[in-house]
Amino acid sequence: MPSDQPSDRREILVTSALPYANGAIHLGHLVEYIQTDIWVRYQKARGHECYYVCADDAHGTAIMLKAEELGISPEQLIETVKAEHEKDFGDFLIEFDNYHSTHAEENRILAEDIYGKLSANGHIATREITQAYDPEKNLFLADRYIKGICPRCKTEDQYGDNCEACGATYAPTDLTDAKSAISGATPIAKESTHYFFTLPEFTDFLKDWTRAGHVSDEIANKLSEWLDGGLKEWDVSRDAPYFGFEIPDAPGKYFYVWLDAPIGYMASFKNLCDRENIDFDRFWAKDASTELYHFIGKDIVNFHALFWPAILHSTGFRTPNKVCVHGFLTVNGKKMSKSRGTFINARTYLDHLNPEYLRYYYAAKLSSSIEDLDLNLDDFVQRVNSDMVGKVVNIASRCARFVTNGNDGVLAASITNTELWQRAVTAGETIAAHYEARDFGKAVREIMALADAANEYVAAQEPWKMAKEEGREADVQDTCSLAINLFRVLMIYLKPVLPDMARQAQVFLNDDLSWAGTIEPLSNHKIEVFKPMVKRVEKDKVEAMVEASREAAPASPDSTDDSAKKGSETVEALADEISFDDFIKVDLRVARIVAASHVEGAGKLLQLTLDIGGETRQVFSGIKSAYKPEDLEGRLTVMVANLAPRKMRFGISEGMVLAAADGTGNNEGIYLLEPDSGAQPGQRVT
Ligand code: MSP
Ligand code: ZN
Repeated sequence: MPSDQPSDRREILVTSALPYANGAIHLGHLVEYIQTDIWVRYQKARGHECYYVCADDAHGTAIMLKAEELGISPEQLIETVKAEHEKDFGDFLIEFDNYHSTHAEENRILAEDIYGKLSANGHIATREITQAYDPEKNLFLADRYIKGICPRCKTEDQYGDNCEACGATYAPTDLTDAKSAISGATPIAKESTHYFFTLPEFTDFLKDWTRAGHVSDEIANKLSEWLDGGLKEWDVSRDAPYFGFEIPDAPGKYFYVWLDAPIGYMASFKNLCDRENIDFDRFWAKDASTELYHFIGKDIVNFHALFWPAILHSTGFRTPNKVCVHGFLTVNGKKMSKSRGTFINARTYLDHLNPEYLRYYYAAKLSSSIEDLDLNLDDFVQRVNSDMVGKVVNIASRCARFVTNGNDGVLAASITNTELWQRAVTAGETIAAHYEARDFGKAVREIMALADAANEYVAAQEPWKMAKEEGREADVQDTCSLAINLFRVLMIYLKPVLPDMARQAQVFLNDDLSWAGTIEPLSNHKIEVFKPMVKRVEKDKVEAMVEASREAAPASPDSTDDSAKKGSETVEALADEISFDDFIKVDLRVARIVAASHVEGAGKLLQLTLDIGGETRQVFSGIKSAYKPEDLEGRLTVMVANLAPRKMRFGISEGMVLAAADGTGNNEGIYLLEPDSGAQPGQRVT
């Protein structure tokens, strides 16, 4: 380390998840890349040595098939998509130190090395497994490539592991009349050898690791469900044909895309190291004292907080300091949707709006939690206009001309209102702490509170009035110079979020907006003529963007790979997704029906007396058309035990029993849920 560097200079390597190389970047992805970019820019602004690397995730069946569909080679496809991704990221001012591809020589070498070590350590097991196989395409079929009739609701054309119509989950072998989604052929069962990573051997290591501050408590709690439930061996091989790296000494077997994808973080960094003469081991050796952070979405936590640390641990590399997990994007409170025009690609946004609006809006709403982030388009317009334009730039635009015209563009020699100045400088520590903790929303609130204070000061001083009064030239200069200095402090704090606005402010202020040390005011300092830095968002531009997204939507719901993998944002037949935390709020209990009777005057209801383990509940249930009261007595069922009591015409109902119904309201096809015998009244159902 050069001797002129302060000793608290940190060395940090940061990654974002690698986007799949078969689809466009959309506003959901950008939550992650904008979040990471802000964090990295903040670290660099504080003078730390920080590298931000990423890559396209180029392997897998989806990419192979997509290329085939387009009539090009996978190599051609991933090259084109990579160029598009890089352009989108660049235009959103996401500044990677390196952007690579998992289909690269560095990654092949590292993947082979890591696999070799896993194997030598006895952490690879082989087993024969039976899978669905497309006899026409000569291809093993993952669940999502098998379609058939849902065994539960009989809806046609459902994918292999879950039904979009009724939400049932099942094995592809349960589908009626299953077909390969690729060729239409009827799949056959076929055996082949697979290679497994022996993850269960790392259970104790992972139990400690996930509780040692590397993930938030929220995530650690989620992970313990897996850890306590028993980990399974992880299938890391795929049979040819596959687009990926062939496993050494195993002809026709390839590394599963998720094995070499995280290794892609290392490979991208290696590529940077070779170019810029950085010591790779300084960041990856087991005893490295540098820091490593992975930013990811909540859907890929198991890969990053279980498989990945276990692999690194086995193979003698360092593990990450932190896996930083964010939630998903919703637009106007709902999942992104093509038909609503809220599935917005990065490029479509850029065709209509300034990228810094979105950076600002996301920053204002981001926190370190995994709560979903909502892009409410009305709020977006309002917030960007009132904060960026109305608060921050307003300070400079109101005051600059008095300095330019009244004092040849030179700021006053000293600060008059030192209290206000001091407040702005001192707030820097709090704001820094919020950035560090990824609580960008809190940082933005602090900064806007300072902007409010600066605007109040200017409004109270009224320099435009003073300027008309005889002999008050110095007061005008003092007021406006302080205001410009406050604007400068705000832009120093906002620079990680708004790099382009900061660049313009640098030109205006003749200053580099450095946040490396204590901020001193600019005095006797020449500034340039003020030019507007950001326009107001126009609502019709937002509407045009939504319209363009609607038009761009193809008829098929599966144009992004996410939809296949994650069950995802494009599928509208399902009810809107709820979080696990929402689900767990519903207290479901095994209940015994101790009494059942008709309700006088009620056409559809039965009155049930339920025992939930020492507590009795009265419930009115609309199941009369399907059950005789005497047949129900003694049976077990499941009830919602924490539903607020509802006053009905016939009395108070203290909960609800669960039954399948066809939803048409005519009360046909009602099937009361019943747990297997042996379940105990009062037992929680999850
Ligand atoms: N290729 C894998 C990651 C491999 S990392 C070794 C992948 N790719 S992805 O393109 O589907 O997603 C890339 C990142 O974007 C993930 O962290 C994912 O969580 C995030 N997001 C994708 N859609 C998102 C939203 N709608 N909202 C927020 N983040 C989202 O997963
Ligand atoms: Zn179904």
